[in-house]
Amino acid sequence: MARIAIVGVGAIGSVVAALLQQTGRHEVVLCVRRPLAELIVETPDGPVEVRATVVLNPADAPAVDWVVVATKTYNADSAGRWLKTLCAQGAPVAVLQNGVEHCERFAPYVPMELILPVIVDCPVERPSANRVRQRGVMYLKCSESELGRGFVELFAGTPADAGTVSDFATVAWRKLCHNAAGVLPALLLQPSGVFRGETVGETALQIVRECIEVGRAEGAKLDDDIAEAVLRAYRAAPVDGVNSLHADRLAGRPMEIDARNGVIVRLGKRHGIATPCNQMAIALLETMTAGNGA
Ligand SMILES: NC(=O)c1ccc[n+]([C@@H]2O[C@H](COP(=O)([O-])OP(=O)(O)OC[C@H]3O[C@@H](n4cnc5c(N)ncnc54)[C@H](OP(=O)(O)O)[C@@H]3O)[C@@H](O)[C@H]2O)c1
Repeated sequence: MARIAIVGVGAIGSVVAALLQQTGRHEVVLCVRRPLAELIVETPDGPVEVRATVVLNPADAPAVDWVVVATKTYNADSAGRWLKTLCAQGAPVAVLQNGVEHCERFAPYVPMELILPVIVDCPVERPSANRVRQRGVMYLKCSESELGRGFVELFAGTPADAGTVSDFATVAWRKLCHNAAGVLPALLLQPSGVFRGETVGETALQIVRECIEVGRAEGAKLDDDIAEAVLRAYRAAPVDGVNSLHADRLAGRPMEIDARNGVIVRLGKRHGIATPCNQMAIALLETMTAGNGA
């Protein structure tokens, strides 16, 4: 039995809450920034009503055994403010976010050795603040380490595909390759079908090739054919699919552009690797969305 806090009860955090509740072994604490009267997760096996302690203010949060952070990357600073009280007794922090800089984002708030980066994948939508629709299995991958094994154990007996991997950096960079190309629909304000065009497809390949080169310099083992595989996956996806960067832009929210493309440019500079396609995508998206929020 563990007491587990979830900071960021959106699409991913809600599915995690439902999974942990289903084990019957854990006490779940939901850390939210607006009141949450109820939370229903429509899982592939039927609806789950999450029954948990809800806390609105970091100062009121209890010390827990584990923290799961599932905010967007651009909310890392405000999410970090929960960790002083939640981690008062040394709880580890699993960071379920996109990108490859999970530790860097939370290092100001918690010792590095207590941060566990986790790559999460799950087809899930959030039609309203208290309802989430999960369309498939949640995939959770973390490093083969004591923390990693402890995290995976929390989900034992659930339908989640939770596991450790021997080369976490490669898993994280492979996911980043996919996410990096997702900037194109957000730029063009067109759903995934836009990848079927020849010039957009060629540009996607270049964006991913830059990511591959930088990822390799960072130690990830990435094959050349990942770029083609990413493009094939986008072209095989439903033509009306809207990725989260695009959805954030449409909703006038901040975007995870720094975690998905900015990191490729920043780390590319450090390694002397040119990343012109990612650089241009960021410049265009930032300029087009500056001032008007979308
Ligand atoms: N959704 C997916 O299918 C998916 C798949 C793979 C990876 N990811 C990654 O997983 C991460 C989470 O994504 P998501 O889709 O779950 O995002 P989301 O639906 O936007 O949920 C984020 C939640 O964090 C909350 N939040 C933000 N700042 C907070 C704070 N200071 N204290 C408490 N709560 C706070 C938000 O609150 P409000 O409700 O008040 O806005 C929201 O409920 C992202 O890095 C995303 O890229 C998502």
